[in-house]
Amino acid sequence: MRISVIGCGYLGAVHAACMAKLGHEVIGIDVDASKIEALSDARAPFYEPELEDLLKEVQATGRLSFTTDMSAAAGSAVHFVCVGTPQKKGENAADLTFVDAAVTALLPHLSPGDVVVGKSTVPVGTAARLSELVEIQEPSAHLVWNPEFLREGHAVSDTLRPDRFVYGVVDGSEDHSAVAILDEVYSTPLSSGTPRLVTDHPTAELVKTAANSFLATKISFINAMAELCEAAGADVTRLADAIGMDDRIGRKFLNAGIGFGGGCLPKDIRAFMARAGELGADQALTFLREVDAINMRRRTRVVELTRELCGGSLLGKRITVLGAAFKPESDDVRDSPALSIAAQLQLQGAVVTVTDPKALANASRRFPELHYESNTEKAVERADALLLLTEWQEYCKLEPYALAASVASPRILDGRNVLDSAKWRAAGWSYRGLGRP
Ligand code: UGA
Repeated sequence: MRISVIGCGYLGAVHAACMAKLGHEVIGIDVDASKIEALSDARAPFYEPELEDLLKEVQATGRLSFTTDMSAAAGSAVHFVCVGTPQKKGENAADLTFVDAAVTALLPHLSPGDVVVGKSTVPVGTAARLSELVEIQEPSAHLVWNPEFLREGHAVSDTLRPDRFVYGVVDGSEDHSAVAILDEVYSTPLSSGTPRLVTDHPTAELVKTAANSFLATKISFINAMAELCEAAGADVTRLADAIGMDDRIGRKFLNAGIGFGGGCLPKDIRAFMARAGELGADQALTFLREVDAINMRRRTRVVELTRELCGGSLLGKRITVLGAAFKPESDDVRDSPALSIAAQLQLQGAVVTVTDPKALANASRRFPELHYESNTEKAVERADALLLLTEWQEYCKLEPYALAASVASPRILDGRNVLDSAKWRAAGWSYRGLGRP
């Protein structure tokens, strides 16, 4: 099929490449000329494992191209809207400027029978509004809401082999003509057994925000348990192992630490609360305020623990932060708890050096006042304390005996509870985990 993908960021660039991999002829469209130039050159404008190889592979087939010109969408049967919905400045609500602009720019290029597929995370009610615009422009065209559940760092495999598809169509009916068209787009993963649910527009929009809210709640739940474990002298990692063995609970997303960040969970739970308020259902989501508060408290807690670890004062202390990305296998620093902690430490008088295998360029644009060092060995030299804040494999594998010789004082705060505390203590380190004795 001929497909257009509007918005070539984390979601759209991966989606475009994966649709071409599935055999479709794809045009990726974005207003950012530098992004289009990189992608046309088979270079990923951000770090995502497997993406660059996939771009090279599919561009060689001639099935994938990129442009800044929206008129290139004309002639595609399916148009995916993959633009960002960041948090509005100074408000909790989502900023829909990019979604509205993308759909408005696409409208004049629609042909009879086209399907516009929204993938961006939007406040419930957006699809109904956009659907009207599409049908006024082209009465036989349809809008489907088809939320995306990919995780950064696993984006290619999550797109090629998702755990489910959700199609939100205007009447919620399996017989809607757009359902068959999307089935054709996704025929490969569907034929290998990926489940697919057809719903109405609002349910499909809510599935996405509900899923992210549940994940955020799970993380904040275990972080609240970490607070309690600290007060009671218990170990939250063993607690998570034990409750996670109940398959109604499950062990995934129960890793206590510095909390969640990134371009999705934090802004999605806030936008969800804001939208619930507009709908008069704010009481239903007041618990998300607590989820957010527990999450933000992790960052201040780490600053306090670092102060304790350094003997009561941060002034002039050389602190090395291992990890700047909001999670490993990503160079994304949007709302990164690691960077936010690094900045708070610096503000409180510490001399902070940040290192990360992939995210330093983005981090230094976001916080130019911090010191950055790409070489881990150099970054840790003469440090008064190390803070492991993003669990990249190379940090999890650090050798405590060898490392002790480089630092000024062997003190480490394990913000993700990934190190073997006994091994580090045996090598002479003062070790602090989060929610662990
Ligand atoms: C999240 C969802 O997991 C995806 O399903 C969704 O599609 C995506 O948002 C989105 O809305 O686009 P992502 O932001 O890539 O994906 O990252 P996650 O893997 O969910 O991690 C989010 C944060 O939670 C990270 O900072 C991570 O370190 C933290 N986390 C995760 C924990 O602190 N503990 C855990 O046990 C798991």
